[in-house]
Parts: sequence; structure tokens; C-alpha cells
Amino acid sequence: MFCLERWQSERETTARYLLSESGVSPLRLGELEELVGGLGLGEVELGYGWTRGSPGLREGIAGLYRGAVEPEGVVATAGSAEANLLAVLSLVKPGDTVVVDMPNYMQVWGLLRLRGARIVEAWRSPRDGWRLPVARLVQLIESMRPRAVFVTNPNNPTGSVAGEKELAEIAAAAERTGTVLVFDEVYRGLEHGGARAPSIVEVAAPGRAVSVSGLSKAYGLPGLRLGWLAADRGTAERAWAVKDYTSIAVSRLSDHIASKLLNTPGAVEALLERARRIVSGNLAALREALARPENRGLLEPWWPMAGAFLLARLPWARRADTVAEELYRVEGVLAVPGECFLLEEASLRIGLGLPPTVFREALAALLRGLRRIRGTAEGAGDAS
Ligand SMILES: Cc1ncc(COP(=O)(O)O)c(C=O)c1O
Repeated sequence: MFCLERWQSERETTARYLLSESGVSPLRLGELEELVGGLGLGEVELGYGWTRGSPGLREGIAGLYRGAVEPEGVVATAGSAEANLLAVLSLVKPGDTVVVDMPNYMQVWGLLRLRGARIVEAWRSPRDGWRLPVARLVQLIESMRPRAVFVTNPNNPTGSVAGEKELAEIAAAAERTGTVLVFDEVYRGLEHGGARAPSIVEVAAPGRAVSVSGLSKAYGLPGLRLGWLAADRGTAERAWAVKDYTSIAVSRLSDHIASKLLNTPGAVEALLERARRIVSGNLAALREALARPENRGLLEPWWPMAGAFLLARLPWARRADTVAEELYRVEGVLAVPGECFLLEEASLRIGLGLPPTVFREALAALLRGLRRIRGTAEGAGDAS
């Protein structure tokens, strides 16, 4: 079972505060319409449209990769989730050895298991800030010659970002062995402060890299269900051939809206700016709250470099799933327990994408709940 998605879907319709989301608060259609100066939805013919995405949409997507991708290298998908599925089905055969960057969102890990691949996990460590283990990846690529390496950069749930130098080292190893690098880059554009993370397709040799991304997280448009796979022509063709079997085409409406957004000068930057503003304000509110005496030692965050979430240790608890369940039951707050990412230390992934006023209320409820749960656990001599 897909722990994170199931954990959310069983509770998110009844929870009061969704600190379980990893993207920024979604825009309303009217807000998007204003941003792009009119969407012209009345003119859209509700046919199937183009099964790999309209030419305008693919051009707009290719434009996000600084010349490294051509429109023929793009396949538009139902969210980045479908792009991950296409990548796994088109690149990996049962029995193939693949390396997977851990921890991660866990969709690809689950799909690879369903596919019957031989998975080698490359774990990041909290001791070095959850940095991508480049030396270990290079060693695994050279010794095992895997079919593919799956990385999430910027990483979910740790918020760590690997830069150009790290990517180049991995790309050089992959080129030597003929390994394909599949990077889920759905949080790209939501870096805090630093420069935009490079895409793997901008760094690796043509034919060696695939970028998976979409409009759900940094752009605040998950309801469009619009993602993509961007690579060289041949790889995109093979992914498109699988898409014929999965969903035929993305929604014609979403194709139209996304195409308008990506081809309106300044619109993409405005959305990313909005996302960074929301997250930086919420991060500041969290820092401030954690500095208060009553909250000392309650949560120990690994401060993220990117994404609309952070991972925080619960230094007083043995397990996070029981704490998360209690938070939901008593305060109506949903946060994702670290167990969903196979983390050993008790930790929670906390969303930073809610509108600032709602976030402050959610934060107050989260901290109140944690103080109470910690108090009960200590009273019982058992840190749940
Ligand atoms: C790393 C990563 N990839 C893919 C997805 C799926 O997102 P979507 O299909 O909405 O683009 C998520 C959602 O949380 C994610 O965190």
C-alpha cells in the first residue's frame, strides 16, 4: 500500500488542518485567469486533443529547460505521478537492477516493486543534512551498472537540494555505464533563497537523463493534474507509447490552461514567487514559534533548502505514526509520519504551503497537540 497517499486520503476530508500537503495552497481558476489575462475557456473544444500534449503546451514545457529539451522530447501527463509511471514502465524491465535515492515520496519505489525490478536503496543520512549521497551513487553505478537511477531533487521529504557539481558527477558515471538518470524534479522552482536547482537534463548527456515534473507543487495547480516527462526524443517516444495504454491524453481543458500559463511572459515566475513568499513567511512563523520556551525540544526541524514542507524529528517520541494519529484525533491536524518514508527516527513531515493565516492557526493546533501528547507520554513513562 502507498502509505503516504493512503494516510492522507483516509483522513484529509475530515481533518481541520492539512499540514500533510507538500505543495503550496492552490490557486482559484479566477486568479489564474487574471494572471494570464484571460483563459478563453469558452472556445475550448472538449475533444481528446493531442495525446502527447498540444504543440503549444510542449513548447512551453520545453522552455523550462534552458534549451536542453525540444518539444518532441516532452510527453504531457496526468500529474507528475503519471510521468513517474511512464518512466518506470518504459525504462525498466522485470529483473532489471535499479538504484533508488532514499528517502523519497515512495511512489517510484512502489512502482518499481510492482514492476519486479531489483531495487538497490541509496540512503541519505540525517548526519550530513540529508545530502544526496553522490559518492555512494557513483560507486553503485560503476559496480552494479544499473539500468536506471531514480532520484528526487529537490528531495521530498527532506527538502535537500543537489546542485550542478553533484549532478555532473553522477551524470559522468551514468554516461560511462549507459545508465539512465530519472529525476523527479516536481519541487524545482521552490528553492528557498538559493539559485534554482539545475535539471538533470541540463547537465547529463543527451539520452542519459529524464526529468519528471508538473504544475502541482511549486505552481500551486494540483487540480489541473498536469505533469510531464522531458527527455530526448527517443526516450519520450517510448514513454508516449506506454501512455497510449494508461490515459491516452491529458485533459483538453488542462492542456489549454497550462499552455496559456507557460506561454504568458512572466506568469511562471509570478507563480514561483507567490510560492516562495508563502513558504518563507510560514517558515519564519515556525521558527518564531519553536523559539518560545513552552515549545523547546518539541520538534527538531531539518531546515529545508526547497519545497513547501519540512521534516522534523520528535526527540521525545519512539514512533511518529501514533503521534500523528493522536494529533489528527485530538486537534484535527494532519501531518505525515516518518514511517511513511521508512524513516527509523520518529519524525513528521509538516506542510508549509497553507495560506499564512490558516498556517498560523494550524501551527498553534499542531504545537498544542504535540505538547499534550509529549506530556501524556512522559507522565506514563513511555515516549509513545
Ligand atoms: C516527489 C513527488 N513526485 C510526484 C508527486 C505526485 O504529484 P502530482 O501527480 O500531483 O504532480 C508528488 C506528490 O506529492 C511528489 O512529492
